[in-house]
Amino acid sequence: MAKPTTRYVCQSCGSVFPKWAGRCDGCGEWNTLIEEAAPDSAPKGLGVGKGRRLEFVGLSGASEPAPRRMTGIAEFDRVCGGGLVPGSAVLIGGDPGIGKSTLLLQAVGRLAQDWRCAYVSGEEAVDQVRLRAQRLGCAAAPVDLASATNVRDIVATLDGGDCPGIIVIDSIQTMYVDTLDSAPGTVAQVRASAQELIRVAKRRGVVLLLVGHVTKEGMIAGPRVLEHMVDTVLYFEGERGHQFRILRAVKNRFGPTDEIGVFEMGDAGLSEVANPSALFLAERRGDVSGAAVFAGMEGTRPVLVEVQALVAPSPLGTPRRAVVGWDSGRLAMVLAVLEARCGVQIGANDVYLNVAGGLKVTEPAADLAVAAALVSSLTGEPVPPDAVVFGEIGLSGEVRAVSQTDTRLKEAAKLGFSTAVIPARRSGGKGDTSLRTVELHHLGELMPLFQTDGGQRGRGR
Ligand code: TYD
Ligand code: MG
Repeated sequence: MAKPTTRYVCQSCGSVFPKWAGRCDGCGEWNTLIEEAAPDSAPKGLGVGKGRRLEFVGLSGASEPAPRRMTGIAEFDRVCGGGLVPGSAVLIGGDPGIGKSTLLLQAVGRLAQDWRCAYVSGEEAVDQVRLRAQRLGCAAAPVDLASATNVRDIVATLDGGDCPGIIVIDSIQTMYVDTLDSAPGTVAQVRASAQELIRVAKRRGVVLLLVGHVTKEGMIAGPRVLEHMVDTVLYFEGERGHQFRILRAVKNRFGPTDEIGVFEMGDAGLSEVANPSALFLAERRGDVSGAAVFAGMEGTRPVLVEVQALVAPSPLGTPRRAVVGWDSGRLAMVLAVLEARCGVQIGANDVYLNVAGGLKVTEPAADLAVAAALVSSLTGEPVPPDAVVFGEIGLSGEVRAVSQTDTRLKEAAKLGFSTAVIPARRSGGKGDTSLRTVELHHLGELMPLFQTDGGQRGRGR
């Protein structure tokens, strides 16, 4: 039977099909199948008895801790797990225009003082990158700059005598391997290009920094298809309208994940935000209703953010629930618990929830702060402006303990808060902070904090 000469590859999940279809059976995405030339030969079976026996070793043994290359940008180094590891591949994903090129140009600008650094741009011409470097104030750094897209040339450069210690590829979606027929940006090209680059980086001990654009339409492959190939995956997030940018580690073979670095985008590029809590709370007005300060943890670091809620009568038959920066399913749960266990009537109102500053909060510990903001908005009574709130809420309305209570309290004390509304502590360990703590066993105990509560208190416990 004649072999098919083309195949259809999903640009979202990489599944391969012999026929085109509107919807990928693999991941369910629409319009993501792209025609590609099938590879010339199918992989052959290995046969029996041709390999070498493996030499196994014990789990313990002498091994060097990975040496690190520090950028000097503390927020970046911490997210990487304490600097960049030679021979590792780091993927930096994010929406177009969020600041990935800016961040990496600033990073190599610093690194170039100690190591040879190369910056290969497939998106911008040399002049454009130079202009940007001038604007960022790093034009004098001895960075090797090139505009190239052919992976064969980059591999030859890395394999050559004078190999750089750090190389940035901006972006992987513009690179192509000339042995493949498919266009740059397709899954096949993105994977093959990354594979070649990672292989040579490992062989030569080069730090490989790959930029990957996140795409909504799927016509170019997103960075997800590369996540399993690289050692570290960082996502650069933020709202386009805000100046804050958050670098988040989602996978790291050389350090902890869930660590964040906070940056501020300004006229001269990205600057580090060493104290994000102060920044997130900078525009806070303490005496308004519907706002509660949540003492959260991001990785190893405490971060205080303001949770804002607006509960307003709805003109619609089905009231709206809109959430920015938190999980909408979790909001629905908190609303249901408030109604069913505390008798708070929210049902017919629109509910809007916002985490100020553009941070995305994922911790269940924010439940209590969300509940406080909701009740405050409903009653019109502000949460005491000197109070921070945290705690997880269970379905029966119980307030559950969360981790790192003392770290959260210390940060709150440092920022001038004097009260903390928190889950009841079992051990009686009060920490050494000067904060007055209001300890709750049940969500219903939150209501007395609001002087008037519309007579809705005390039902359903
Ligand atoms: P860029 O790094 O090009 O984004 P990406 O590589 O992720 O696509 O960032 C571009 C945005 O950053 C652009 O909207 C302009 C803004 N910007 C500043 O505000 N200040 C600066 O100093 C620079 C260099 C960019
Ligand atoms: Mg860019």
